[in-house]
Amino acid sequence: MASLSSYDHLFFTASAFIISAFIFLLSRKSTKSKFLNLPPGPPGWPVVGNLFQVARSGKHFFQYVRDIQPKYGPIFTLKMGTRTLIIVSSAELVHEALIEKGQIFASRPRETPTRTIFSSDKFTVNSSVYGPVWRSLRRNMVQGMLSATRLREFRNVRDSAMDRLIDRLRSEAESTRGVVWVLKNARFAVFCILLSMCFGVEMGKETIERIDEVMKKVLITVNPRLDDFLPILSPLFSKQRKRAMEVREEQVQTLVPFIEMRRTALKNPGSDKTAASFSYLDTLFDLKIEGRKSSPTDGELVTLCSEFINGGTDTTATAIEWAIARLIENPEIQSELYAEIKSTVGDRRVDEKDVEKMKYLNAIIKELLRKHPPTYFSLTHAAIEPATLGGYDIPLDANVDFFLPTISEDPKAWSEPEKFNPDRFISGKEEADITGVTGVKMIPFGVGRRICPGLSMATVHVNLMLARMVQEFEWSALPTQRKLDFSEKLEFTVVMKNTLQAVIKPRA
Ligand code: HEM
Repeated sequence: MASLSSYDHLFFTASAFIISAFIFLLSRKSTKSKFLNLPPGPPGWPVVGNLFQVARSGKHFFQYVRDIQPKYGPIFTLKMGTRTLIIVSSAELVHEALIEKGQIFASRPRETPTRTIFSSDKFTVNSSVYGPVWRSLRRNMVQGMLSATRLREFRNVRDSAMDRLIDRLRSEAESTRGVVWVLKNARFAVFCILLSMCFGVEMGKETIERIDEVMKKVLITVNPRLDDFLPILSPLFSKQRKRAMEVREEQVQTLVPFIEMRRTALKNPGSDKTAASFSYLDTLFDLKIEGRKSSPTDGELVTLCSEFINGGTDTTATAIEWAIARLIENPEIQSELYAEIKSTVGDRRVDEKDVEKMKYLNAIIKELLRKHPPTYFSLTHAAIEPATLGGYDIPLDANVDFFLPTISEDPKAWSEPEKFNPDRFISGKEEADITGVTGVKMIPFGVGRRICPGLSMATVHVNLMLARMVQEFEWSALPTQRKLDFSEKLEFTVVMKNTLQAVIKPRA
């Protein structure tokens, strides 16, 4: 999912090595794939496959896929060194894979060595293979933390994070003649909510920023490297492996004290007056995992907490950045939204019960997730056994990647798909079930057994944050910006290429 273009220089310094390894590898190359009917794809070189083409295109991987998709169709193969990637980009094939053959395609592929370190050897909801560990961890996260009842318990946490977000925006604007950064502020707000839900202990601004720094380092460290695709080159990457171990150590050293703090607060009720009544950690301390005797170790707790926080931070903040950009581009949509907020709550502060009733707001968010799914690929799937998809063979160890934008922009399913038009969901002309249960038309959270368990919480966060931001401020472009640039780039999610700065004016 991440950009490969930054590795260009590595590709070229490594090419000499590859060529000498080439003959050796060719002699060992498995003949098995010759008999498989794999989906078509661009012809590649021996050994490296399509790695060079992708890297030399100078594009983000998602852009490369978007460019070649019309030529190779809704299912195609990219050989990336030793990895076979199957890219799936139509609603019909998503339905076949994740609904009709849902169980077969519900697994995850083998991890890279770096990811194995940060996932505590696949001990997370998102990375675990389809089986007892995944079932235990996912059930715990969904029932223990993300159920409707549990979510309601954290209402105060959300309210105070929203108040702080508004204060931060206001004070930033005071010192910059009304100009604010959107992504950074939205990100901080949602990060605070998830940290608080996860650890249940109070943290100051500096601590939060320190944890954020470490989390970002982790995300950068797990980005794919050349040796993930060509393990034979791993001797050239010993420095990076050492660095990964250091980052892991830093992550553990930073988070374990908060795990201990929570343990102490639970053992001595009332000792920490700031401790929350419940947290994600509480569900994990004595968690029973099917097929395992021991409860999670501290290292595993660090991993599970990081998953909870990282899963919901950049995704949600990205949605807000695109949402504000769209409201700036379409002032009439912004005015209509403000009118809905006013008519729903009057002069009172909008809260999360109100946002459930706001049809126009909900339509904006749906349209937003259709046009700008925060991640362009679902997390990589894998089959639990050799399978077929669209009539092609899917080998057991292939990475199966679902490309989301082509589905929600399919002209067969949507009228004027390129247009940002929330009214499509108001007029009743168009509908889409975001969970994919009644049909696959847009799946920003994936679909089927591995659908994002944070869907409900994320929807509350995005709706509430946008409603509060528009209730408090009128949003417009910088005076120097005649037209907003909607180009994209990949960070951890697909964000605006030119990070959005906007002018805010407090509402009268
Ligand atoms: C707008 C916000 C969000 C978006 C767009 C989003 C999107 C996604 C997508 C596309 C997947 C992959 C589904 C698949 O593999 O087929 C996923 C999985 C996941 N998400 Fe989210 N997500 C969001 C927020 C959250 C939040 C708030 C959390 C939790 C705190 C979360 C936790 C997870 C986890 C744990 C998985 C892995 C599920 C599994 O493998 O069983 N996400 N998400």
